[in-house]
This record gives sequence, C-alpha cells and structure tokens, in this order.
Amino acid sequence: ESQSSAEAVFVKRVQDLVLNFENLPKSYIYDEGGPGFKHALSPSEGIPVIDLDQIIPPITSQNELAKLKEALNSWGCFQAINHGMTSSFMDKVREISKQFFELPKEEKEKYARGPNDIEGYGNDTTFIESQKLDWADRLYLKVHPQDKRKFKFWPEIPNDFRDTIVEYTEKIRLLNEVICKAMAKSLNLEEDCFLNEYGDNDEIIMRLNYYPPCPMADQVLGVKPHADGSTITFLLQDKEVEGLQVLKDNLWYKVPIISDALLVNVGDQIEILSNGNFLSPIHRVVTNTEKERLTIAMFCIPDIEKEIKPVEKLVNESRPVLYRPVKNYTEIFFTYYQQGKRPIEASKI
Ligand code: SIN
Ligand code: FE2
Repeated sequence: ESQSSAEAVFVKRVQDLVLNFENLPKSYIYDEGGPGFKHALSPSEGIPVIDLDQIIPPITSQNELAKLKEALNSWGCFQAINHGMTSSFMDKVREISKQFFELPKEEKEKYARGPNDIEGYGNDTTFIESQKLDWADRLYLKVHPQDKRKFKFWPEIPNDFRDTIVEYTEKIRLLNEVICKAMAKSLNLEEDCFLNEYGDNDEIIMRLNYYPPCPMADQVLGVKPHADGSTITFLLQDKEVEGLQVLKDNLWYKVPIISDALLVNVGDQIEILSNGNFLSPIHRVVTNTEKERLTIAMFCIPDIEKEIKPVEKLVNESRPVLYRPVKNYTEIFFTYYQQGKRPIEASKI
C-alpha cells in the first residue's frame, strides 16, 4: 500500500461534503457569471442525431455523411444512435460505475490518486490559489493500450468492473475507427486520413464522473467550461439526470438525454487535424439539489509521440493553415484547464 492512499482516507471528497453538509467551501463557489449564470436553452432542433448504421460501410448514405460534417462544423458534437451497443450493455457499464461510487469510503480510497499520479480516484485538486473546483468525484483510468493499464487503480469491487470496462473499451475503440473514417469521407479525404495521424500507440483514457447533488447547486459547476483535449470523446450519459450544456454561437444549450445514444464530441486534436473544419465545442456541467448524476467519458487520443498538425489536404488558399503543430497535448491540456484557459488558443496562428 502506498502512503498516499493511506492518507487519502482523511481527504474530503465531494461525496463526503454532501453527507454532512454545513457550508459550501469557498473554492467550490463559481460565481463569476452572477445569478442565473447556469441558464441554458433547449435547442429547438436538438443536438444533431447521427445514425451510425448509415455511415458504416458497405452502405454509406451521403446524406448522413453531410449531416455529420455539418454537425461537427457547427455543434462539434452529435448523439450517435445505432452504434451497435445494446441497451443492457450500456446499463451494465453505468451500473458497475455507480456501484464503485457507492462503496464505503475506505474501499474507494484504495484506488486513490497519489500526489504524483494522474490516474486513480479523487476529487478536483487545487493547483493555483484562484482555481475553482469542480463539484465532482472521479475515477480516471488509462484503459488502452492493454500494457499501459495500471490495475492497482482498477476497482476489484464490483467484481465484474474490470471485464466490463475492458469490453466497453474495445467497443469504443471500434467506434472511434468508424467515426474517424466517416469524418474523413465527409471531407472528401481518404478514409484513413485521420486514423493514420493517431500513430501506432493511440490511447484511451476513461473518466467516471460522479456528481453528487449539491444543496447550493446554483453556486457550483460539476465541470467548468472547457473543450476536450482528445481527438474524439464518447460520453455515456446518466440514464435520467441531465446536466451537460454546450456552447454554440455564444449561447449555452442543454444536451438532452436520448435513451441508448452515445454523445460524441470532437476534441481539440481533431479541430487541429481538420484545420478548423470541425470544432471542439466548449461545454460545462451543472448540478442540481436532489439527484446525483453519473457519466462515463472515454477520451481517444493519438500516440503521445506523434506530432499533430492540420492534414495537408485541408490546407489551401481559401483556408490557410490555422494551427501550429502540437505534441502530447493531453499534458499541456491539464495545466491550461486548471487555469480556466483553452490550450488550443496557444496553437492558433
Ligand atoms: C466532461 O465534459 O468532462 C463531462 C461531461 C459530463 O459529465 O456530462
Ligand atoms: Fe469534457
């Protein structure tokens, strides 16, 4: 047992704060927007829904591809249906994730992230004094490639946790491939164009997000506004409780729950690779006073050694190169996120 996990038993997770709620620690008060700052619209036409059946070969609907292109150029995200995962499997993934957060504190703390770890269980921690903390506890695991799994952070209870996550990871990896190919085709590129940029050692990071209810929900955020540092993120939403909002044309919109759909959003690295044809959307999470919310995010990322820059075919006279090359983007991402800044701004020319 490492020393850090023994000490972590005394750490207050957000879940503990709620159990004996007295007052809201100042670091969680996110009041920059003033009253009503969490207001969001319900998009009349909704976040675009894409039928993956129609973009997977051999039948590829040009219409659906055009819809995909438009969705990623405007919203930066879409709700994927017919992705091949059964509803009961998705329930299973939600269930084992929920069971982890329901474990007694001592049990969860066995998987606590130490001061020098990225992976593991924990809440948001302070790096700089002015930083606002997210109202969420998390379990962060590198789930792909196989030889980079650090099983000391993988819960042993529930006992089907590991197998289920391994299976889920495989399915997500295939979906990443399918979507990368479709994205390339929608831009009239060779289908492996984006996938090739992942390099040989692509990775998938999983983050279980647990948002306890907050007695003062109108003063906190489950996740501060940010855009993902991934290439593509797959989000399995809570089955009942909404909370995610996405920014489009400077207005916040609620992301509704569509049963069995997976929310897919592009991250900064696809924005860069696509030379801005696809946009990495800014999003945030709001909490509520009564209901907990649990989501499972899978972040697909390229080989950390690979230089990521706009693909040549998307650079031309009318659209000159818009981004500088980046490398190991996930690392710079964290530093910026803590400071409430967007790393992609540093890459823009
Ligand atoms: C995130 O964007 O980091 C989490 C999204 C969610 O939990 O809805
Ligand atoms: Fe995100």
